[in-house]
Amino acid sequence: MTKTMLRALKGETLPTPPIWLMRQAGRYLPEYRATRAQAGDFLSLCYTPDLAAEVTLQPIRRYGFDAAILFADILLLPQALGADLWFETGEGPRMSTITDMAGVTALKGRDDIHEKLAPVYETCRILARELPKETTFIGFAGMPWTVATYMIAGRGSKDQAAAHKLKDTDRPAFEALMDRVTEATIEYLAKQVEAGCEVVKLFDSWAGSLKGQDFEDFAVAPAKRIISELKARFPGLPVIAFPREAGEGYIGFAEKTGADCVAIDNSVSPEWAAEKVQAGRTCVQGNLDPKYMVTGGEELVQATKRVVEAFRNGPHIFNLGHGITPEADPENVTLLIETIRGK
Ligand code: CP3
Repeated sequence: MTKTMLRALKGETLPTPPIWLMRQAGRYLPEYRATRAQAGDFLSLCYTPDLAAEVTLQPIRRYGFDAAILFADILLLPQALGADLWFETGEGPRMSTITDMAGVTALKGRDDIHEKLAPVYETCRILARELPKETTFIGFAGMPWTVATYMIAGRGSKDQAAAHKLKDTDRPAFEALMDRVTEATIEYLAKQVEAGCEVVKLFDSWAGSLKGQDFEDFAVAPAKRIISELKARFPGLPVIAFPREAGEGYIGFAEKTGADCVAIDNSVSPEWAAEKVQAGRTCVQGNLDPKYMVTGGEELVQATKRVVEAFRNGPHIFNLGHGITPEADPENVTLLIETIRGK
């Protein structure tokens, strides 16, 4: 029997949607915190294949999710391209910055990333072997715009001002950076697939700050290029695209880019996404507000049923609208799954 997640990605409407959660391996789980402590820090965890595979498996063992996502980070790719990367405790990622064409030119080439990323591919091989046969294995990368926002600013930012400034004042450097990241992303994802990933997900967390033609040029066009190249190399490979907070930009995104599924954040209602994006035929993933995983109770049950109900007339993969937060209660994940699958 084909895995439920792969069936949904092929466009099948299922009586019960497959379920997984963004950041399902994460700090809300005591077993994750223990393994991270064993590794020393987050980046060491990402680069230690046995431990990265272990944390990927933890939520599968605990909850029986329909899919597992590789444990890694979107910022490992820019690090492999030559950026310095570290995490400030309690604050988030920090990187060396790229501010001009010289910075872009100094980056490594697309074929020079694999030595640094070899442990990630090894994690994939372990997981391809060890995951339960009904669990779908998802690989991922950040989309060029989102990755570039960190490479340009050297950190996360609410409005991505530094990246917008480079885009608007030094277009050649910005476009050269986007090209470099796009090309490296294709090679990175191809290696993940060769190492056993069955699906890839493209995270464009900051797509929402690209407006009008910029959204077409720097969210849609790179997605289309990455997806068509991957599908040329791996015919039939399912791809999930997540242009977070795209709003109206979600409409037609799958058709324009060739994605098999569009992940929807929780700034839009499930009813709107069902009508405008899923439209009875396009696979959508989402979009419960992660806050319910903290608050739980009857509100969680009702909000979950609303999402399932809204998307029941087309292909749907249940997920949150963004990653589960460290404050989430592991018991609420059990309640979520029971609500969707029935006890
Ligand atoms: O979903 C998964 O569980 C798979 C692994 C994964 C991580 N990060 C692990 C992680 C994935 C798919 C990501 C994607 C990622 N990383 C994105 C895109 C998705 C999104 O959340 O919008 C972004 C923007 C990043 C960059 C990043 N990594 C930030 C901004 C942070 C700090 C914020 C935070 O939550 O601490 C990280 C750290 C990070 N990546 C953690 C995890 C489990 C927390 C690290 C820890 O254990 O302290």
